[in-house]
This record gives sequence, structure tokens and C-alpha cells, in this order.
Amino acid sequence: MSSEVEVTRSHPVPDPGIPEHVERWVDVDPAASRRAERQIAACFGAVPLLALGFIVVYFFVPKTWAIQFAGLHAQAQNFWLGLLGGVAILLVGIGAVQWARLIMGDHEISEERHPAGSTAEDREQALDEVHEGITQSDLPRRKLISTTLKIALPSLALPALVTLLDMGPWPGPGMRAATIETTIWAEGVHLVTDVTYRRIKAVDMVVGELVNAAPENIQDLNNDPAAKAAATAKAAIIIVRMDPNTIKIPQSRKDWQVDGILCYSKICTHVGCPISLWEHQTHHLLCPCHQSTFDLGNSGVVVFGPAARSLPQLPITTDSEGYLVARSGFTVPVGPSYFERDSTHDYQNGDN
Ligand code: FES
Repeated sequence: MSSEVEVTRSHPVPDPGIPEHVERWVDVDPAASRRAERQIAACFGAVPLLALGFIVVYFFVPKTWAIQFAGLHAQAQNFWLGLLGGVAILLVGIGAVQWARLIMGDHEISEERHPAGSTAEDREQALDEVHEGITQSDLPRRKLISTTLKIALPSLALPALVTLLDMGPWPGPGMRAATIETTIWAEGVHLVTDVTYRRIKAVDMVVGELVNAAPENIQDLNNDPAAKAAATAKAAIIIVRMDPNTIKIPQSRKDWQVDGILCYSKICTHVGCPISLWEHQTHHLLCPCHQSTFDLGNSGVVVFGPAARSLPQLPITTDSEGYLVARSGFTVPVGPSYFERDSTHDYQNGDN
């Protein structure tokens, strides 16, 4: 009596056990089994063809082609790349599901819960189960499925690999020199305000003032918005005026400034945020992104934060009418650091 009560307490609901196993049609009909195998192999076998189609579309369908259909307006290349890549992944999924439903063993297994642990016995049992799973999957016998699957899965990597080309050209020294290491600043280019493109007279700037500015020749790119945006992102500058007696001007940069008016890149050398938070009493310029702080009264050296390089300074002078002009382009690349960047010309604290 007491043991009955004990059993009822620990198993308040009677264990229904495992339902009787019912054979599937593929288990009893060898022809159906072979048919299912062929269907699954067809799914996997189509994947390399779709991957190949993806690559052909990527290289041979011009980006200018468009698709108009039932109100849909899309770039043809994107449409076909998405369709081919999506169907390829879908077919791998359908093949895997059908394989599990129709080919793998479907005997139900019951397992008692037990404390978590990794005893030698458990590990051995786990290995046995892996081997049992491989046997149940019927892969060793179904050569057609295993072969097509082995081709299908690696072929899915090909579309992913070719799309790496969209990351742009390889940034070798020549490419870097023509792109990220160059701005449109050059000798004689006027400094203009960044919104109204008005030239800036040195005498109009007062001590403590900061002006967001741009090169006057940026307007030459008005008809090409993409090129203008790219050029603006690199050429943006700030101009500040400080009392020359309160700042440190190294000998090598004596003629890079006009009566305490100095010009710096506006692009943070950490990861490229635009900066213009200026504490004019300390001469510190603060980047709002990660708090790098540059001392504009000491050639832009980093005094705090994660930036590793001084803010590049643009050498400036005035033209015959007193307007600010560049003496040259930047002498070092502007913007964030990168592995191959030559840092020998960066200003270091203590240089003169
Ligand atoms: S981008 Fe300026 S501190 Fe990070």
C-alpha cells in the first residue's frame, strides 16, 4: 500500500509510454524510398546551378537594368541575385527537411532525465548516439544524397565570396594615394564657410571664434552629388583663432598660420566623426563620439581619448585681399588610422 502511494506521488500522471511505431510508406515501398531519395538529391543538385547563376548575374547583368512588374520597380541585378540566392538556400532547407522526414530513421526514443555531467560513460554513450544518428540518417548507404549534399553546401559559399567584390577595390598603395590619402585641398584654394561658401577674411575672425569651413573648389562638383559628398567627407575643416601668445607654434609650422588663425581637419583621427566642440579657453577640441580631445594650441596633439594621431593641420596664408587660402594640401592623410598608413610625417608632441 505504502509503495503504491509512493509511486503515485512521484508519477501523478501515468506514463503513457511510447506510441506504437507505424511504418512510413517509404519504409515499406523500396520504389517510394528511391523516389524520395531522388527528390532530395534533385533539391541539393540544383543548388550548385543556382550558385553558378548567381555568379553569372553578378558579373553580366548591368546595374543599370531595371525590372518593372505589377507595380514593382527594382534593380534587375539585385532582384535576380536575391531570387537565386534565396531559392538555393530554400532548396537546401527543403532537401534537409525531406531527408529527415522520409529517409532518416523515425523510431521514437525515450530518455530518462538525469543529472548533467560528463562521465566517461556519458561521453561514450554520446559517441554511440552520434554513430547511431549517422546510421539512422542512412547517409552511408545513400551515396546520391551524401554526394549532392557535399557539393551543395560548399557551393553556397561561392555567392558569398563574389559579393566581397562589392566592398570596393583592393586598397593598395596606388589606390590609397588616389583616394583616402588625397583631398581636393591644394595651394591657392580659398577657405569658404561650409554652408554659404563665402570666402573668409582673416581680419573678420575674432580670438575665440571657430568656423566650419570647406575648400572653395568643392562647388566644382555641384553636378556630381556623389563625388561632392565623398570630397566633402575628407576635405571638411575647422578654422580657429587664438591669441598667438597663448599657443605653441613649432618652428616648422610658423608660416602655416595667420596671426593665431589655424586650420585643422574636422575629421577625428580615431574613427572619423566630424568634430567642432571647442573649448576656446583651453584650446581643446572634443570629439563627441568617444571623447578624444585634441589641443589646437599645440598643433592638434591628442591630450585624451582613444585617437592615436594628432589632428592634421592645413597650412594657410592670405591672398592679396586678405582672404584665407591654403598654402598646400594636407601634408598627412586625414581621418582614421589604418594599418598601412605612413605615420612618419604626423606631428608628435615635442616636434619643432
Ligand atoms: S571618432 Fe572621435 S573619439 Fe572616436
